[in-house]
Parts: sequence; C-alpha cells; structure tokens
Amino acid sequence: MAMGKENVRVLISQEDLERRIAELAEQINRDFSSSADSDGLVCIGVLKGSVFFLVDLLKKLTIPVKIDFFQTSSYGSGMVAGEVRIRKDVDLPLQGKDVLLIEDIVDTGYTLRTILGLLKFRGARTVRLCALLDKAERREVDVPIDYCGFTIENLFVVGYGLDFDERYRNLPYIAVVENESEPDPPSPS
Ligand code: IMP
Ligand code: MG
Repeated sequence: MAMGKENVRVLISQEDLERRIAELAEQINRDFSSSADSDGLVCIGVLKGSVFFLVDLLKKLTIPVKIDFFQTSSYGSGMVAGEVRIRKDVDLPLQGKDVLLIEDIVDTGYTLRTILGLLKFRGARTVRLCALLDKAERREVDVPIDYCGFTIENLFVVGYGLDFDERYRNLPYIAVVENESEPDPPSPS
C-alpha cells in the first residue's frame, strides 16, 4: 500500500493479530479466574500506542476489570538515554491490587522498567506485563514479559496503535514503513 512517498509493508496481518490476541486473552482469563479480585484486575495501558491492543484484548476478558492509563515520554531534548518522564499518572488506587500493564512494544525496556517500579511502589499486590510486540534484540534493561504477542526483528514498525511521527496509528495491522528517505522519482519530461 502506498501513502505518499512511503510504502507500508504488512508485517503482522489483522487476522494474525486477532488470533494471537484471542490466545493471550484466554491465557489471562485462565490465570486470573481463580484468584480474580472481585473488585477487578486493574488493566493499565501505556498511552498512546497500547490503545488499540488494550481495547481488543479487554473485550475478550471475562474476569472483572478496571481500566486506567499511563503516559510517559522519553528521548526528549535534553534527556539522557533511559530517562523516562511521566506525563499522565494512573488515577485508580493500586494498594493491594492485581495489575496488568498493557504495552504496545518493548524496545530498550527503559519505559517499562520505570513504570513497573512505580506500580510496585504504589503498593500493587502483583504486577504482570502484557506486551503485543517484543523487539528482544534491542533490550538494554531486563523486563519480564508475562504475556507476549509476537517477538519481532529490529525493525521500526507502525500501525495498530504504533506511530511514526504520530502517523499510521489507525492501520488495522502492524507494518514496516519503507522508502521514507528515498528521493522522489524523476518526473517524466
Ligand atoms: P523503550 O523504553 O525503549 O522500551 O521504548 C518503548 C516505546 O518506544 C514504546 O512504547 C513505543 O512508544 C516506542 N517504540 C519503540 N519501538 C517502536 C517502533 O518500532 N515503532 C513505534 N514506536 C516504537
Ligand atoms: Mg508506547
């Protein structure tokens, strides 16, 4: 599919996403069905990338859930690698709660290491991590992924919530953007 000068190549199709997300949901339902807090498993999405994944996953959960969001920023100007700032904090109380942290992609791991530490500090009883994509090769700090959708190569991916400069989030599949920096083809004379 062409979008301007960029070619978007499908890496993980809509059908494959749906199938894998159904499997993850089944696993989460199984793991939490006996221990499920009747007050609800606190599902926390990391904005903005995890939104599409969170919605599709949570529609398939049969245990009681609550929803909240975190937003972080990293790699900003004047920041050192690995420095992560919190832009939007969680509103729900976490003391004694079972938390499921939902993330689009784990890259270096710095973002999640910061968030996981904070959730524990807030008194969460258990914190499990569910990530749609794992770019394992790029990891700099170890983070345990309890539920992982797909392990992918070291490629920059977009779609299904993931962006390139805020674009492509609404693609219903995961894709790789190609030819971004290639010059325009010569125009016919
Ligand atoms: P980390 O702290 O390096 O693990 O960064 C993870 C965050 O970087 C993710 O939550 C994404 O927002 C972003 N990110 C990492 N890799 C990609 C990618 O391939 N496409 C789009 N965003 C990415
Ligand atoms: Mg993210």
